[in-house]
Amino acid sequence: MATADVSTESLETGVPGFDRALDGGLPARRLYVLCGPPGSGKTTFSSRFIATGAANGERCLFVTMHETVDQLIADMSQYDFGFAQAAETDQVEFINVVEGSERNPLTKAMRKHSGSSVNQLTNRLTTYIESRDIDRVVIDSTMVLEYLLSGTDTDLVPFVTKLKHVDATVLLIAEMTDPTAYAPEHYLAHGVIFFHNFLEDEGMRRGLQILKMRGVPISADIRPLTFTPKGIQIDAEATSP
Ligand SMILES: Nc1ncnc2c1ncn2[C@@H]1O[C@H](COP(=O)(O)OP(=O)(O)OP(=O)(O)O)[C@@H](O)[C@H]1O
Ligand SMILES: [Mg+2]
Repeated sequence: MATADVSTESLETGVPGFDRALDGGLPARRLYVLCGPPGSGKTTFSSRFIATGAANGERCLFVTMHETVDQLIADMSQYDFGFAQAAETDQVEFINVVEGSERNPLTKAMRKHSGSSVNQLTNRLTTYIESRDIDRVVIDSTMVLEYLLSGTDTDLVPFVTKLKHVDATVLLIAEMTDPTAYAPEHYLAHGVIFFHNFLEDEGMRRGLQILKMRGVPISADIRPLTFTPKGIQIDAEATSP
């Protein structure tokens, strides 16, 4: 009896060059950690991932704490990948855990139980994702957890471990300025994508590095990243420097 190998399905992110570098996109239903310094492109990449999912008819969830939903939409509207249009559809749900409306049951649950254990918060989030059949999730960023948790219990291991098994593709944005300081979430994730902003002779250069992608042969070289009117673009072939 033939069985479908769901683990090999590729999910288009829509980011030009990135999907090509991965021969189609991210392996679906896995968890990826995106990290890099401020302003390196993590939110822009993730927004395009959500807009692409919505355009494909998938259900998407964007959990944020850094910006209000309106600010996020305004910032992403400078690009033409259709984020604002996607945000208006029923396909995309936003949760701002700091300033969002408590009409959303997840926002309410997370706020109400602010200070609860990482296991309780993780269970609430995973139950929500699964009960709503959500396909794509962005969590921007791991600071969300630090904000909600009591301060002593900010271990990401149980969170990442459980989130790895939800039936959705998850992008977890983790701030990290020291690219040599690997954390447990980097080892636990199915894939790790680094956004770089580094100094070269002629000045600062942006780059994207697929540090790890389980099950997919990849070059871990840094690929040049540029911002265009369409958002982020990766040079799939070239490496730098
Ligand atoms: N056309 C462009 N050319 C160069 N830089 C741009 C362009 N458009 C936006 N940027 C820069 O990209 C950055 C925004 O990227 P983004 O918000 O995706 O980064 P981030 O990694 O999520 O940052 P943070 O960690 O602060 O949330 C801003 O610093 C902005 O100035
Ligand atoms: Mg950001």
